[in-house]
Amino acid sequence: MSNAQRAWTAGNFTPVAVERDAGPLRVQGELPAGLAGTLFRNGPNPRFDVGDSHWFVGDGMVHAFTLGDGTARYRNRWVRTPKWRAEDAAGRSLFRGFGQVRPDVPAAAGVDGGVANTNIVWHGGRLLALEEGHLPMEMRPDTLDTGAYCDFAGAVAGPFTAHPKIDPDTGELVFFGYHVGGRFSATMSHGTIGADGRADRFEQFEAPFASMVHDFAVTRRHVLFPILPLTGSLERARSGHPPYAWEPGLGSHVGILRRDGSGAGMRWFHSDACYVFHVMNAWEEGDRILADVMQMETPPFPLPDGRPASTAARRTRLCRWTFDLAGDGDRFERRYLDDLDGEFPRIDDRRAGLPYRHGWYAAARPGLVDGTFDSLAHMDFGRGRRTLHLLPEGDATSEPVFVPRSADAAEGDGWLLAILWRAREGRSDLAVFEAGAIDSGPVATVELPCRVPFGLHGNWVPA
Ligand SMILES: [Fe+2]
Repeated sequence: MSNAQRAWTAGNFTPVAVERDAGPLRVQGELPAGLAGTLFRNGPNPRFDVGDSHWFVGDGMVHAFTLGDGTARYRNRWVRTPKWRAEDAAGRSLFRGFGQVRPDVPAAAGVDGGVANTNIVWHGGRLLALEEGHLPMEMRPDTLDTGAYCDFAGAVAGPFTAHPKIDPDTGELVFFGYHVGGRFSATMSHGTIGADGRADRFEQFEAPFASMVHDFAVTRRHVLFPILPLTGSLERARSGHPPYAWEPGLGSHVGILRRDGSGAGMRWFHSDACYVFHVMNAWEEGDRILADVMQMETPPFPLPDGRPASTAARRTRLCRWTFDLAGDGDRFERRYLDDLDGEFPRIDDRRAGLPYRHGWYAAARPGLVDGTFDSLAHMDFGRGRRTLHLLPEGDATSEPVFVPRSADAAEGDGWLLAILWRAREGRSDLAVFEAGAIDSGPVATVELPCRVPFGLHGNWVPA
């Protein structure tokens, strides 16, 4: 096992074994009176030992922090996927990651391997646990009981991104899927779920090659599909080589499609190799489309022959992509906006797909272990200023989530919520910051009696 792999099962990556209902919890400071609702957060939490598998493939566990009237409660539950239930019945792990059944357990063949571990989104009256290889898994918001896979009345099939975008004006959820034509296929899908929760568009297209497409971008009139050279290959997987590998020679491709279905179909733009897990936001300015992304030169995946892709320190930095729709060129520009390493970019979601002023992300000093973040960053593009909140030595944050002060508050006027790992105490806190003054430290800290392992994404659902 490599050091990077070992890190996924140590420290606060270690899964928790207990499902709890806790509260009212002790609060330092004062929870804002208007902060009423639940922060749902999803992340990998393998039920059984996954051996040398990647962190990404652990069973989803949802952590819910319910705030209101100055009090806080906490609940966590595994997402009881078909895989989770089959392994629960067997009393051991049956899968070894990315949907692969362990070679010694033929009985698991045919059991769906979805882990529902990446994001959790409220839309159209449903709470959906998302993982990009499978359909959304519906959960009950009050109990965190797991329902069933949601195929939107049979209208949507196959993989469904963990990073759908919700249009703040129309309430539509825009989504895509990759590898929809079978394992590692280059066929992709995209579609729209109306604000009423009903699917009203679902189509397919061919990408230039099969790649891992973790996120995409949506503007008022366009949708952007980044096809970056982190490729997936069934042939490699079958021959014992890395299923996903870095092939920079293929370059970066971004397909842009009009959302209203008019125009001449997908237009492809190109650039040198880069990789992006997460998009902060994208918007239109006249005939240009801009997208702010957390870009890396080399992703944390091996070369096709299994050798490490790079021995240099990996960096992930906020970068602005610019596409000129009026010109007839096929290149897009990339320009770093900051030199700070970070991930998990978020915005005030009421500005999704629109010109925006504020963004937040988890940031890290150079040299920190992969996957841990020791500070929170706030970009105020209006003032051209970045603010930092550095955590106490050894502590770490997960994705920050913005909550508006009220439905009609100005952009960025509200709070920033982050689950913090308190390394010395082996515990976690939920910290609440004034979103515009994170450098002043939290205004309230909800103390948990337990640990919330590092996770992926979450969202706030107002009461
Ligand atoms: Fe993600």
